[in-house]
Amino acid sequence: MLPETLRFENDILYILDQRRLPGTVEYIPCTSAEETARAIDSLAVRGAPAIGIAAACGVALASRSGRSAAEAACERLARTRPTAVNLFWALDRMKRKLALLPDKDLYPALLEEARSIHREDRENNRLLGEAGAALLPPSCTVLTHCNAGALATGGHGTALGVIRSAREAGKTVKVYATETRPVLQGARLTVWELLEDGFDVTLICDSMAAALLKRGKIEAVITGADRVAANGDAANKIGTLSLAVLAAHFKVPFYIAAPLSTIDRTLSSGDSIPIEERDTMEMRLLPGGGTLPERYTLWNPAFDVTDASLIAAIITEKGVARPPYGESLKALFHEKGELP
Ligand code: MRU
Repeated sequence: MLPETLRFENDILYILDQRRLPGTVEYIPCTSAEETARAIDSLAVRGAPAIGIAAACGVALASRSGRSAAEAACERLARTRPTAVNLFWALDRMKRKLALLPDKDLYPALLEEARSIHREDRENNRLLGEAGAALLPPSCTVLTHCNAGALATGGHGTALGVIRSAREAGKTVKVYATETRPVLQGARLTVWELLEDGFDVTLICDSMAAALLKRGKIEAVITGADRVAANGDAANKIGTLSLAVLAAHFKVPFYIAAPLSTIDRTLSSGDSIPIEERDTMEMRLLPGGGTLPERYTLWNPAFDVTDASLIAAIITEKGVARPPYGESLKALFHEKGELP
């Protein structure tokens, strides 16, 4: 059984420490926004929707010290990870709620808002999972990257939610997961998460994807996203772009599975998505122990942007968007009641 990614109990946010998986299941107890921000910074909690939920809980925790503490918490939490738009989406929602509340009793209302964000994300993933499952053949093998599963979300997952829902619909799905260098979210998290759920999953190094696709045994590539621009360009874990290019070459559909909270309608294209660059120590550490020499210059972008032209469909809780995404995504927001 999978442990919960985030749990709120007795005024404490318990964050499953994903840096220690799969070896150790351990929770970090957070009682402040600062502790929550550090857990996000350090990847103890990661994955765009889970980051947003954790941040919302961090704001609620801060609100016990009053309005200005809650406002300061929003600013601190916004400085953690720049690419995942769900973080800013959740913080905006908390700010809007805060603005409507009287000074006393901020905490219960903000905690309820954070809980709603969590609950809605889980429900949305079930809906998008069902929509995505319909795209898969009755028996298939899919390739995924990074971890866009229950661990990265409020539950069920986005890319892995599609795979879970396909199985629930009676389909047989085999999975290949990439390692996802440098911090191995695929190897440590996706394979573990899927094995815990009894899936047939095989791990490959990132560099093996072309050879795998060339064998013609993959029916679909499915990943999550950290931010999708209005035109459908999608930022996701570094290496996603390579998979999308390969999928196009080998004529395999490449799907993005993401809730509408991951779509940033304020950006017209992926060119303006901020790309996080992380500490090069993540790359310098060698898997077998030891480090690369200091004189090695390293570049460690955490995300890349896949052109909309390489994406066969964007799977959301309001249905499947197809190109041209400017129109189809707008229609889904309309359906959700967020556009006139
Ligand atoms: O750096 P991470 O582990 O937070 O990156 C996560 C991803 O890239 C996921 O694919 C994305 O956030 C979607 S999670 C449903």
